[in-house]
Amino acid sequence: MLGQITRWLRRGVTGGVAALGLTAFGAPALGQAASGEPILVGHFGCLTGSEATFGISTSNGIRMAIEEFNAKGGLGGRPVKLVEYDTRGDDKEAGAVVQRLINNDKVVAVLGEVASNRTLAGAAVAQAAGIPLISPSSTNERVTAVGDKIFRVCFIDQFQGYACAVFAHNELGGNAALLYDQSQSYSAGLAEEFKKNYAKLGGKILVEQSYNRGAADFTAQLTAIRNAKPDVIFVPGYYTDVGSISIQARRLGITAPLLGGDGWDSDELGRIGRENIEGSFYSNHYAADQPDPRLQDFIAKYKAKHGAIPDALAGLGYDSANLLFDAMKRAPSQAGDALAAAIAATKDFPGVTGSITINAKRDASKPAVIVELQADTPGQPPRPRFVAKIDPPTDK
Ligand code: PHE
Repeated sequence: MLGQITRWLRRGVTGGVAALGLTAFGAPALGQAASGEPILVGHFGCLTGSEATFGISTSNGIRMAIEEFNAKGGLGGRPVKLVEYDTRGDDKEAGAVVQRLINNDKVVAVLGEVASNRTLAGAAVAQAAGIPLISPSSTNERVTAVGDKIFRVCFIDQFQGYACAVFAHNELGGNAALLYDQSQSYSAGLAEEFKKNYAKLGGKILVEQSYNRGAADFTAQLTAIRNAKPDVIFVPGYYTDVGSISIQARRLGITAPLLGGDGWDSDELGRIGRENIEGSFYSNHYAADQPDPRLQDFIAKYKAKHGAIPDALAGLGYDSANLLFDAMKRAPSQAGDALAAAIAATKDFPGVTGSITINAKRDASKPAVIVELQADTPGQPPRPRFVAKIDPPTDK
């Protein structure tokens, strides 16, 4: 065993000590740690760029799952080793790095991405190669429709849009404005679902505006929205843009709350938006202040390691990896078809983000929460606080 360890280390595997479950080296658990030929699992994520916290949190969650799995002996003594590439938040790069994971690194499965656009790009490659891909957190409906090798462990935007519409209509008022990112399938899709459900509930969309990811100036759109005097502004974008939008909206004198989807979920949003984003709401996969014991146990472990409260991306990354390992244990072999069939058969998997059953569309049906951004102490960046839980109706 020692010979093998030295060989891996000499190859210069970055993060190898933890990834190979060797943290137990010299500790009493040594006898149980995995030491056979490693099984390679890929992750593609935006580790840099305007949504960098998405990729970093997901990576942290995946790495925690791998460490725990390897410390318990891995897959019959074989450790899982992570191969990870940065998509830099770029769609084309996402497709290219998934190609590299499959062709060069020969991973048995791929985890990622967060943003639906990038997962769609990676999924086309994985599906063509017959290698299973699990997105921890992409919610656009089309993602898993790419094919029978593509899965996710989160809810979809058909439900998230419904959850936001119900909350907006019941709690914030019957007149809404829309401001969505037309460059992202996530944002455009979620806006569409919100619109449909809000109208069904009797709400009115007074004005509809759009922008492109990375835009600097939202004055024209926000002026049109201010003139319509909505009760709530639905902004299903990613956190960097939403932070700027909140600042510019308040500067223009708009006082209506903003409401968004899971794309808001980053500590950065509170740091950028500060008091401008306080009192606004978003839907998410969990709230860290919910009492669920499995979630709280994960939060405590994550905090001890990273010194921060994990966002939902970390929890979903952790769940995607653990669900994959569970399927790997049940699969007769790690070949694409066998592994995909085992993932598809997942029932009542105890995730930290909730119980996960993979349905016929290879999606997971789970409740959503609504959180409100509130500062613990005045002047501090606001943080998400649990407000409501919304269960999926049977048809979502
Ligand atoms: N659901 C978003 C998408 O599909 C990504 C996301 C998930 C962002 C969870 C934050 C938290 O693009």
